[in-house]
Amino acid sequence: MSVTSRAAAPAPLPRHRDCPFDPPGAYAALREDGGASRLAFPDGKAGWLLTRHEDVTRLLADDRFSSDRRRTSSPVHAFPVRPGDRRMLGSFIGMDPPEHTRYRRLLSKWFTARGLRGLQPRIAEIVEDHLAAMERAGPPVDLVTSFAQPIPSLVICELLGVPYEDRADFQRWATVLLRLGQREEEVYAARDALWDYMRGLIDAKRQRPDEALLSRLVNGDHDAPGGPGSATAAGLTDEELTGVGLLLLVAGHETTANMLALGTYALLRHPEQSRGMRERPEVIDHAVEELLRYLTIVQFGIVRVAREDLEIAGARVRAGETVVGALASANRDAARFAAPDTLDVTRDPGDQIAFGHGVHQCLGQHLARMEMRTGYPALLRRFPTLRLAVPPDEVPLRHDMLIYGVHRLPVTWDRAAAP
Ligand code: HEM
Repeated sequence: MSVTSRAAAPAPLPRHRDCPFDPPGAYAALREDGGASRLAFPDGKAGWLLTRHEDVTRLLADDRFSSDRRRTSSPVHAFPVRPGDRRMLGSFIGMDPPEHTRYRRLLSKWFTARGLRGLQPRIAEIVEDHLAAMERAGPPVDLVTSFAQPIPSLVICELLGVPYEDRADFQRWATVLLRLGQREEEVYAARDALWDYMRGLIDAKRQRPDEALLSRLVNGDHDAPGGPGSATAAGLTDEELTGVGLLLLVAGHETTANMLALGTYALLRHPEQSRGMRERPEVIDHAVEELLRYLTIVQFGIVRVAREDLEIAGARVRAGETVVGALASANRDAARFAAPDTLDVTRDPGDQIAFGHGVHQCLGQHLARMEMRTGYPALLRRFPTLRLAVPPDEVPLRHDMLIYGVHRLPVTWDRAAAP
């Protein structure tokens, strides 16, 4: 492929979906065309879009690109980040090494598969409690509010030490942050409320320490689950810890909840796949990876900004230009996955990149996997006749949110006959 500055007029990010489970059809032609394409951003700037698996992974592994949110354009009308904003402190998803590395080192031991193992029985208990409550309530129920949302919410609250009773407030604020096209004042009001809430919690942890993660970070506990000395609060101010707590709380809530709900919806629309999961429980690890690949809920991709003039995917990118890696497109790339548009829960989708790639690859991925590996099979086992309670076109889709999924999922089932 020759290097080009691709003179074609910049086009907006493809957003129109023909099917609730497939990414916008326009990506297929862009992948076919190969290389980077010109992208127009809502702020009037132009940048680049990468759609192939090989190119997106290359982008995310390349340290000539920065994650600094204050310098990038967003591909959609999403929440703005003001330069010099102190309330971005600690939000390491938008930092570059070595600053980013400092946070990641501090937290990673808490989020390894090994470090999280002790949580498994509690996750199973939370799942069973919610299924039992659903059964008691009887059909129909909204699977989002009765199952998909409360499970990751309760898990992350317990892990961090955030009072679950406060969820109505912080979920409302988080929804404002993640909804597209909100008025700027509303976004900042919600973000400030979330910040003040977390700041208060950090103060409280100093006065009344507990065993959960936030308290142990605040109080400089050296005994993270990975072993002595593996985590310390050394060097983090309370403001930075507030930003860390806020990021973990929002990221831990919204993502897995949407995978549980949208994944269930996909399984209900592909009954042969849910049958496969019921009949062969051993496929669960692959099934979860495949659902992550097939649905790729971080729907508008990952944004980076070039630190210098460089070439990638056949394009000359200038320093300061924003490049978007379309995860949803990369995960449907036929050059990487056989029959990419087919959901097959028995396949091993190997290097699917729904959790991103490179130094920012999702910190919470093992936690999310544990919740999904526990949640889907328990739901399918408990309700063998689970089905939609409304016609499919009445399931409201999250086209308007940074994280894709369903707003509601009304489901029903046959009650067991009384003995
Ligand atoms: C980063 C997806 C669950 C915490 C990321 C990134 C993606 C992602 C794509 C990379 C962002 C980038 O490169 O700019 C997902 C999906 C999830 C999920 C699909 C569920 C199915 C979670 C959970 C947590 C979490 C449960 C809770 C702790 C984070 C954090 C980062 C991150 C802290 C930033 C990591 C860094 O910058 O080093 N996630 N996530 N995520 N995720 Fe997740």
